Amino acid sequence: MPPTRSTTSPRSARRSWPLVLAGGALALSAAPLAAALPAAAAPGDVSVAAGETLYLTPQGRVVTVPLVLAIEGGGALESPVRVRWATGEGSATPGVDHVRAGGSVTFPAGTASGARRLVSVQVLSTPGAETAETIPLTLRTDTAGVGTTGATIVVDAHGMPYLDPDRPVAERVADLLGRMSLEEKVGQMVQAERAGVDADRRQITDLRLGSLLSGGGSTPAENTPRAWADMIDGYQTHALATPLQIPLVYGIDAVHGNSNVYGATIFPHNVGLGAARDPGLVREAAAVTAAETRPLGIPWTFAPCLCVTRDDRWGRAYETFGEHPALVIANETSIAGLQGDTPADLAGPDRVLATAKHFAGDGSTAYDEDAAPGAYPIDQGDTITSRERFERIDLAPYVPAVRRWGVGTVMPSYSSVDWTEDGVGNPVNMHGNGELVQGWLKDEQGFGGFVISDYNGIDHIGGEFAENVRTAVNAGLDMFMQPQNYAEFRETLLAEVAAGRVGTGRIDDAVRRILTKKFELGLFERPFADRALLAQVGSDAHRAVAREAAAASQVLLKNRGGALPLDTGQKVYVAGRSADDLGNQMGGWTITWQGQSGRHTEGTTVLQGIREVAGAGAVTFSADASAPTAGHDVGVVVVGETPYAEGFGDVGGPLWAYDPSDEGRPREEKSLSLKEGDVAVVDRVCAAVPTCVVLVVSGRTQVLPAGTLAGADALVASWLPGSEGAGVADVLYGRTPFTGQLPLSWPRTDAQQPLNVGDEG
Ligand code: BGC
Repeated sequence: MPPTRSTTSPRSARRSWPLVLAGGALALSAAPLAAALPAAAAPGDVSVAAGETLYLTPQGRVVTVPLVLAIEGGGALESPVRVRWATGEGSATPGVDHVRAGGSVTFPAGTASGARRLVSVQVLSTPGAETAETIPLTLRTDTAGVGTTGATIVVDAHGMPYLDPDRPVAERVADLLGRMSLEEKVGQMVQAERAGVDADRRQITDLRLGSLLSGGGSTPAENTPRAWADMIDGYQTHALATPLQIPLVYGIDAVHGNSNVYGATIFPHNVGLGAARDPGLVREAAAVTAAETRPLGIPWTFAPCLCVTRDDRWGRAYETFGEHPALVIANETSIAGLQGDTPADLAGPDRVLATAKHFAGDGSTAYDEDAAPGAYPIDQGDTITSRERFERIDLAPYVPAVRRWGVGTVMPSYSSVDWTEDGVGNPVNMHGNGELVQGWLKDEQGFGGFVISDYNGIDHIGGEFAENVRTAVNAGLDMFMQPQNYAEFRETLLAEVAAGRVGTGRIDDAVRRILTKKFELGLFERPFADRALLAQVGSDAHRAVAREAAAASQVLLKNRGGALPLDTGQKVYVAGRSADDLGNQMGGWTITWQGQSGRHTEGTTVLQGIREVAGAGAVTFSADASAPTAGHDVGVVVVGETPYAEGFGDVGGPLWAYDPSDEGRPREEKSLSLKEGDVAVVDRVCAAVPTCVVLVVSGRTQVLPAGTLAGADALVASWLPGSEGAGVADVLYGRTPFTGQLPLSWPRTDAQQPLNVGDEG
């Protein structure tokens, strides 16, 4: 399937998601490059290749390159293979930058696949300032049927002011900017999806790309922290093979922990953190997230969402800290947890650049009752509002995010704003909204970081591609998340500059902002993953923070006759489809984009947590409540929503979520009412046990039928508590008191949406 780009109406715009499916599903967009890649090897095929394709080195060193024999399918050579190697013509000068070298190596008959021979190249030291230079290492053989692959040695740039860590950042930026060509500048403004470049990483070098991202679920084939670090370091090496060696800044949605990574600590989604009313804890959770992200070579997260969710039908409601801007603002401590308190902290080994998103009004869009089948009825829609209300509700969180917390990047919203003052019907998409991005955010608030567009976000401006590109750049967007059509974007922007429709001053401003963050992050000094810290991912200490957060996020909505806390002496009957389902309690943006039910990473379910806290002997589990209930003192029924993310999570939205594991099967319909099957289990258990406790695991409010509600002695809003179900058990058993309060108004009926605190009546 070719990369798709929506040029249709914003409401039906779709991301070409299959390109970023988890490891193994390689980039379809790489197909045109296939010709440049070696043909697939057949059994018995023999090749000799340099251990790596790129070797980075400072001046004055001897670079040793292993030449590795590979026999497809393993085994040993039947006849000898001789390979001649030589340094070739690159940008480095033989005799000045390095000693011309060459020779031959022989792998005798009987040599086993995997055997290596070392060859060396002496790199010389030259005084003064130089950009990075290349020395190709070529391999040749006369042996018929044997393939060879050489390498490139890259001698590091040196002697230029921007490379000097002792100079102030602004000085380094000015020096570097002054050395860059327009092509290099525009490259810095481009962010590609990692799957798009994976098959031929030379694109990173050739296009001078400034950034890569992993979309939700875009993981290395083996989803381990080490494999992530290896993958990203590999990309980084290609960025450092450019003359100026400007490192990539890699971004990811570490939105509730570094949630694409298997085994990472998963925190409650923001809606639960908003319920906790504990900004210090939110800061701590964000710091843990940063500490599980940066060591993988990822210095940037697209978080936090500063969305103020005004309608619970929105499929991103759980990404909010609450429906009131004050609640969102209070929890912006998250930014400090990610970035630290000052720009100097950003260079720390456990800090990442944060993103305030989605600027602005993403949570205020109007529900479209007439949405076409398959379209999102609320996500990416129009915020129809007065200027006064927009400032009060939607812009308010960005003021402290910029001024107090110094958030490093801002992501515009897919949605549009339609001011009521000049009549409804003329919405302006946020990706092309110069009045708000350049005007309000940058000029008025003094935002000094860079603006990153959302995934194919400029398509939502609604014009032809070139028009969207220039509109967005001129509106003040600095970096562009063009997951698949990054090369086309780069060409188009260069053409727009050449035609004078985008000024070079605007380009310089964008690049200055991007480079400033790269310097502050310390990427020029430490571009690679810090493997010493990898072991922290999913550590006991981090999980303890997530457990505390899960406990703090629980909201006790009803507690008749002191049903809670439970007593460890009680016989407990646990039921409900979410009692033992890690996927359900983690929700969307976990391992995959939309999330999945079931066990897809490590963690403790609510049931496991109850067993841990109460002792296994006291607990019976029957998901559908089919096991006999007699003899139990108390029932704990855990029900609620199954995972979803943006768009597909809208109530009334499309049902197929593009997730590979769905295999095209629809997901269950979204609603603000508990599903019939869940209600049946609750009713069965509550009718049979003396004391009945109901936990609703969901990303938003869920209405229970009056009779069901009456049957429950205690009702708990558990939100999406994350990987540490024991935190839920902690409050059930009174190890930790219930302190959570609702971040969203809980409606009496689902027809009451939108319903928010302060609404009339
Ligand atoms: C979402 C963003 C996210 C981006 C990258 C978009 O679809 O709207 O919130 O950061 O994808 O995954």
